[in-house]
Amino acid sequence: MSKHQMARRHTPRSLATLQTPIVALTAYTTPMARLLDPHCDLLLVGDSLGMVVYGMDSTLAVTPDMMAAHGQAVVRGSQKACVAVDLPFGSYQESPQQAFRVAADLMARTGAGCVKLEGGREMASTIAFLVERGIPVIGHIGLKPQAVHAHGGFRTVGRGAEAAQVMEDALAVEQAGAFAVVIESTMEPVARAIAAKLTIPTIGIGASPTCGGQVLVTEDLLGLFPDFTPRFVRRFAELGQEVDRAVAAYAAAVRERSFPGPDECVGLTDTP
Ligand code: KIV
Repeated sequence: MSKHQMARRHTPRSLATLQTPIVALTAYTTPMARLLDPHCDLLLVGDSLGMVVYGMDSTLAVTPDMMAAHGQAVVRGSQKACVAVDLPFGSYQESPQQAFRVAADLMARTGAGCVKLEGGREMASTIAFLVERGIPVIGHIGLKPQAVHAHGGFRTVGRGAEAAQVMEDALAVEQAGAFAVVIESTMEPVARAIAAKLTIPTIGIGASPTCGGQVLVTEDLLGLFPDFTPRFVRRFAELGQEVDRAVAAYAAAVRERSFPGPDECVGLTDTP
């Protein structure tokens, strides 16, 4: 396929003007990116990979090098979706300059189209610094998993007085120049009000069906991450059970010596 025949990849600008809800999923590897890309507008190389791929109990120990390796894999496996890479904990909160160095390095090493970072009002000056220097940014408000210890766990936010704070975070992120914002695990009426107020796309995960798009962790929707299923996850498949069935069948076939069979060996049944 020539360069001109190739499907054009979504950009932050094309996502922001999409007429249909943004379909976003997490991706961490090339084979999964290949499967998701035809269906998705945005592939997020989320720092959730620390928990989903590496078995960590939070995202706090994820490093820029891990994000770079998985970001490269996802860009290689996709052609159509815009790829966003998360800035991991500790790599951007110190100063706008630190954030710029890490974000620029990740974009250069991966070929991703944008970065995502967690934070509202406290990150507004950092978002503005990046955007003014050519780095498209997706904000992330509501539940911020990198602040899990300060939050007191993975809990829904936006109850009572917290509602106004989440709205202020949303407005600050938009004002700073983010082209979209993820709203995670937030009371539906609060997320709905934010989606109605902002002019940039809101991408919900445990937020509201009125958001400008939705994102899920792919392993959650496929039933491949049984450790913990938040209420906002819908399992569209039970691939964990399917993997269990297939591996049990393989183990039995090896033990009874029915695998490999004659057709799976070279020189046993082939005519010379
Ligand atoms: O890290 C991640 O996968 C995310 C999504 C859950 C939005 O931030």
